[in-house]
Amino acid sequence: MSQAMRPAARAAALLAAMSPSDKLALLSGVDPHVALGVADGPLYVGYVPPNPTLCIPALTLNDGPAGVAGLQVGTTAFPAPIAQAATWDLALQQKLGQAMGLEAWEKGVDVLLAPDVNIARIPENGRNFEAFGEDPFLSAETAVAVITGIQRNPVIATVKHFPVNSQETNRYYVSSNVDDRTLHEIYLPPFAAAVGQGKVGAVMCAYGAVNAIHSCQAPEFLTTILRDEWHFHGFVMSDWGATWSTVPAANAGLDLEMPGGVFFTSALSDAVAAGTVTSSTVDDAVRDILTSMFERGIFDRPPPALAGVALSDISTPADEHVALQTAEESTVLLKNAGGALPLRLGHGTSIALIGAPVGLDGVRPYVAGGGSSYTGGADPVSPLQALTARAAKAGATVVADSGADPTTAASVAGHANLAVVFAYDQEREGLDRDDLSLPLGQDQLIEQVAQANHHTIVVLDTGGPVLMPWLDQVSAVVEAWYPGEQDGNAVAAILFGDVNPSGRLPQTFPPSTAAVPASSGDQWPGSGGGQDAAFTEGLAVGYRWYDAHKVTPLFPFGYGLSYTSFAYSHLRIARSSAHLAVSFTVRNTGARAGAEVAQLYVDDPTAAGEPPKQLQGYQRVYLRPGRSTRLTIALTRRSFSVWDTASQSWRTTPGLYRILVGASSRDIRLRGFVRK
Ligand code: BGC
Repeated sequence: MSQAMRPAARAAALLAAMSPSDKLALLSGVDPHVALGVADGPLYVGYVPPNPTLCIPALTLNDGPAGVAGLQVGTTAFPAPIAQAATWDLALQQKLGQAMGLEAWEKGVDVLLAPDVNIARIPENGRNFEAFGEDPFLSAETAVAVITGIQRNPVIATVKHFPVNSQETNRYYVSSNVDDRTLHEIYLPPFAAAVGQGKVGAVMCAYGAVNAIHSCQAPEFLTTILRDEWHFHGFVMSDWGATWSTVPAANAGLDLEMPGGVFFTSALSDAVAAGTVTSSTVDDAVRDILTSMFERGIFDRPPPALAGVALSDISTPADEHVALQTAEESTVLLKNAGGALPLRLGHGTSIALIGAPVGLDGVRPYVAGGGSSYTGGADPVSPLQALTARAAKAGATVVADSGADPTTAASVAGHANLAVVFAYDQEREGLDRDDLSLPLGQDQLIEQVAQANHHTIVVLDTGGPVLMPWLDQVSAVVEAWYPGEQDGNAVAAILFGDVNPSGRLPQTFPPSTAAVPASSGDQWPGSGGGQDAAFTEGLAVGYRWYDAHKVTPLFPFGYGLSYTSFAYSHLRIARSSAHLAVSFTVRNTGARAGAEVAQLYVDDPTAAGEPPKQLQGYQRVYLRPGRSTRLTIALTRRSFSVWDTASQSWRTTPGLYRILVGASSRDIRLRGFVRK
């Protein structure tokens, strides 16, 4: 078969040579340990065996969104996806995707099970850390960048979990009951962008149901939306154990049952024999898988070896640099009273480092969320290691305490010139958080330390928002997320001012557990103990809800401080036929170089029935002190459209649209108007 043939033609030619049993063998996974005769050790999380007669290579699958994870070792632990999104840096996200994809290929992984683009509907979601936050536009842009990077390699990226997976409570069975408009405007856009702009090779359907139909057997999603509307021609795999039937699933458009075959083995050939599934449906599934494999070069550029079993460390300095830069750029400076940061240390200044994530006595810092995406890295750089080294350069000294006993910790802090408390939460797949407070008595720890030392700084290693009852008592707060293996290096660079913080929140931090968009039990975890989750907040997800209900967040979406300051001016809105160009000037008015993330929100006319404002563009820009630059953000017809359920299409409501440009969703600096 000629390589010059297009992927679809190669897939068709190969399909024509396949027997019914050849085809069936491609439609479900097998246990890789059994298939490869490897009892244990690093391997794949999913495996479709090869067909040597037809020269079809094996298809190997592994997580995931924070680097090559699961059963692999010797790969780079990148920051969690919520941190990746907090950089608002498309070029960096693409580099990160490229690095993850290359490591996947080197480890013999054909399909990387990333990115996860589920919208952060509730801050308690146990997988909050694993996706890109609460905004569809930011999630879509981030997803396209990461996918583009991954797929620069002969590796298939997987966008997941389609179409909705916003909670872990009862995740296999929960029905997300959500209206059509909300689906199209909030939950689907990142998937649509992954398919349309990102050209993603695979889609993973979710465990749960949407409006009472399990996602992996929902024709509305797997065929009407994915294939007919979005023209997706890659393959759909089930989440691990998310296939619930043979006939409905196959007819809905599911191609690959993972991880093992229950419904897509003999039951599928029986269904074909009985006429309840047509042979052309089976052909479609095979063609989808083969097309994606040809498109990404899985046939032509196979991984270097059967590297799945390799123990080798393939993380390069270049990969580690991407991990470090991502951790640095994602760190959000939330509070900085009186310029407490960057640290200004005199000779002999003593710093008390408090808390479990410090990495004292061999305790691993909490650098990654738990579950299938877990990538702890071989040897993460702990805050203790990095800060001790950095402090020594400045002539300062470090003492550390695990924080296990708040009274001891307070006494250690009281004897130091300043204290840095590292606090964390333990988000993990499979379990939502009980509430939004820091666990393990850490609020009390912070309070006691802050009482003992008035110069207390808090560093948060959390996968999402937490409440901060101690906020007024501390000088500075830094959100470092789950920072991956470069943890200590990144936090040292930020605290000492070697790097100017530039992360911006991809998610609102609520003021209390009650003041959140989905606050009733029917909304989350849903009635019947999580059977039916009523998405009655509709479009009012994240900052859209806080704006609509005039609730002041603890920290708003898009927010983040810097060691310098920026001014916005000279808004200009220029029309051209296809789009609208919004331009403005951003000036660094402070004394330090730094990056600003300029954000553009559109406020629709009341008749459109939209939330008060929605992100429709952003640009990250690095400026030296005193320098200014002109930024231009293009808005398209979609930026001024709502999903019209009657016509099943995007429609623009006539009226006056407000253009809002600023430094966060609650810090609008420039305003303009457009009439449509
Ligand atoms: C998760 C997926 C993951 C798969 C394979 C499932 O439990 O929901 O995100 O890719 O496991 O590890």
